[in-house]
Amino acid sequence: MLAGGRATRLSPASRATSKQLMHVYDKPLVYYPITTLIHARIHEILIISTPDQLPLFEHLLGDGSQWGCRFEYAAQPEPNGIAAAFLIGAEFIGDDDVALILGDNIFYGSGLGEQLQAYTSPVGAVVFGLWVPDPERYGVLELGPGGEVVAIHEKPLVAPSNYMIPGLYFYDNSVVEVARNITPSARGELEISEVNSHYLREGKLDVSRLPFSTEWFDVGTFDALLDAQNWVGGQQHRKGLLIGAPETAAHREGFISTEQLQLLAAAPDQGEDLMKSGYGEQLLRFLEFEAGERFVAEEDASP
Ligand code: TTP
Repeated sequence: MLAGGRATRLSPASRATSKQLMHVYDKPLVYYPITTLIHARIHEILIISTPDQLPLFEHLLGDGSQWGCRFEYAAQPEPNGIAAAFLIGAEFIGDDDVALILGDNIFYGSGLGEQLQAYTSPVGAVVFGLWVPDPERYGVLELGPGGEVVAIHEKPLVAPSNYMIPGLYFYDNSVVEVARNITPSARGELEISEVNSHYLREGKLDVSRLPFSTEWFDVGTFDALLDAQNWVGGQQHRKGLLIGAPETAAHREGFISTEQLQLLAAAPDQGEDLMKSGYGEQLLRFLEFEAGERFVAEEDASP
């Protein structure tokens, strides 16, 4: 997970803290992409941020064992591009396949976890195409007459389509070598679009269209932050369940037991603050929700 950058578009709010540590309604922004990875059943996560902010991430997230994960940390001294994550993380990646998520991207959608689980052992690369009204701010897909992807354009002046590539990417192990061989762009960054274009040229880029109903936020501006806050708060009030909570995702995906979730919510030495804020209660409510699901499942099964 790449959680560095300058966050100039959030200045002065970002002067003393990192964008990814700001809260989106009731939890730090970084919880949301971690939740997405947990739903993809990824539990070994390297968290990359700036040297000055990295200790704060460590303080917040620890070694990940509380959520059945293993977290490691690495610094990116300069924001020299998203694809630099594969160079910084080369040792962590080792011989494995790898996913990259941006620390300021929120994904939410019914069945998204299952969809993502299908991509964790890709041949080449898997990225996503998402319809947005303002694609020119991102890596944009150029589509051929049959709807096939023919090129990727990074922040084009005129977008060739409304489909952009959001900040979640899956690769086989070759990505480390591919990232080593790209050259910095005119703005001095190792561009993720360059990496993806490489796989496209090799015929090894699978672009999966995300359903239009997928909620996606790129929390890079004040308005986007406010939008995400309002959306999460609104959804949680209406549904009475947390969105983007690594604790409940970890329980859902079998990373932690019911007892562990209960302890996270309410253990005297660990969860006291969570009970005071109401977050702990919501974690416990999730267990009631899951029990309810079992009841419905049994009813459905009866003749
Ligand atoms: P951006 O939003 O493009 O950049 P930024 O976060 O520095 O913000 P601003 O444009 O306001 O200055 O970055 C997208 C995500 O990738 C974000 O989570 C930060 C992260 N990132 C890095 O960690 N290192 C990098 O070198 C770059 C380019 C981005």
